[in-house]
Amino acid sequence: MNLLSLLSVIFGVLLANQNVDGSLWNETYPKGEILRVDDLNIYSVGTSNSDLSIVVIYDIRGFNITQTRVFCDRLAHEYSVHVVMPDFYRGTAAPSNLSLIMAWVASVNDWAKISKDLKTVADWLKKSYNENQIGLVGFCWGGLQAVRACSNLSTLFFTGISIHGSSLTPAEVSQLQQPMLFIAAGNDPALIPNISSAIEQSNMEISKKCEYQTYSTMGHGFVAAGANYSNPENVNAITDVHKTVRNYLDKLRNLSVSLSINLYLLLTVVMFAFDFYL
Ligand SMILES: *[C@@H]1O[C@H](CO)[C@@H](O)[C@H](O)[C@H]1NC(C)=O
Ligand SMILES: *[C@@H]1O[C@H](CO)[C@@H](O)[C@H](O)[C@H]1NC(C)=O
Ligand SMILES: *[C@@H]1O[C@H](CO)[C@@H](O)[C@H](O)[C@H]1NC(C)=O
Ligand SMILES: *[C@@H]1O[C@H](CO)[C@@H](O)[C@H](O)[C@H]1NC(C)=O
Ligand SMILES: *[C@@H]1O[C@H](CO)[C@@H](O)[C@H](O)[C@H]1NC(C)=O
Ligand SMILES: *[C@@H]1O[C@H](CO)[C@@H](O)[C@H](O)[C@H]1NC(C)=O
Repeated sequence: MNLLSLLSVIFGVLLANQNVDGSLWNETYPKGEILRVDDLNIYSVGTSNSDLSIVVIYDIRGFNITQTRVFCDRLAHEYSVHVVMPDFYRGTAAPSNLSLIMAWVASVNDWAKISKDLKTVADWLKKSYNENQIGLVGFCWGGLQAVRACSNLSTLFFTGISIHGSSLTPAEVSQLQQPMLFIAAGNDPALIPNISSAIEQSNMEISKKCEYQTYSTMGHGFVAAGANYSNPENVNAITDVHKTVRNYLDKLRNLSVSLSINLYLLLTVVMFAFDFYL
């Protein structure tokens, strides 16, 4: 990991470490439960009325942050979808002592381990719930993992949504095999042009389905651990993020439905023509 990306991880911690009151909005939406799958704890909330589910990849503050759980609860409730958030860090989170953070980051930032957990979760969703279409939403550190999953595990996940993702680089995003929605805060590195043009140059088809949105008055972390529900402007921005996320998922899912309908029509026409000339 280079110095710049390490700094942006630390930057995220410092900002997210401000203690915001997590109890506001805590009881607004129906809550989920913690399930155990192999050696992994998973927060699971909501049920799907289709075969879609969403895997949330948290930020470095980890599993027990109320604001991150409220995001899951709200998405599940408003989009009628099954949302799960695995505890990748196995009960740990970023230490607030900066001299310990490098070792901690090195221990959790291991794609081989994260991808194994993501496979476990995807297999479990398919087997236990029949949910075959799985999307990802990642915050900060989790945003980068969503990029990696849409590159490296692209047969398991049909899209990823990075919300104030950290350490996103042109090299990472140029590996994408699935389209993504990128959301940034005002003090995150700009998404356009560096990130957007790297995707455009590597894969035009995927690039056409990617979207970018920046909340310029918000700070890094504003939807997850850094969310300040006492601040009405922050609350409005979170509401808008939910809307943006739902619209994007709708758009991609309608696209795949209309593609399969078109394919069906095409096949019918071809079969008809074949019959006719026979
Ligand atoms: C949020 O709600 C859960 C479940 O009702 C409770 O266990 C938790 O302590 C609450 N958190 C805060 C910060 O109020
Ligand atoms: C979250 O809470 C669980 C259960 O109370 C605990 O075992 C775990 O260590 C906590 N995780 C963090 C990051 O504090
Ligand atoms: C931070 O960790 C270092 C190394 O373990 C230790 O020497 C130092 O006292 C710790 N600082 C605080 C404020 O806990
Ligand atoms: C995915 O990641 C694993 C673990 O790092 C690696 O071994 C594998 O080559 C990667 N696969 C692709 C398609 O990039
Ligand atoms: C975008 O790329 C240019 C040219 O390589 C570089 O100077 C700039 O710092 C990059 N911007 C961001 C936000 O990474
Ligand atoms: C949260 O927002 C309120 C209202 O704007 C503000 O008074 C408070 O200082 C903020 N809390 C933090 C930790 O930034």
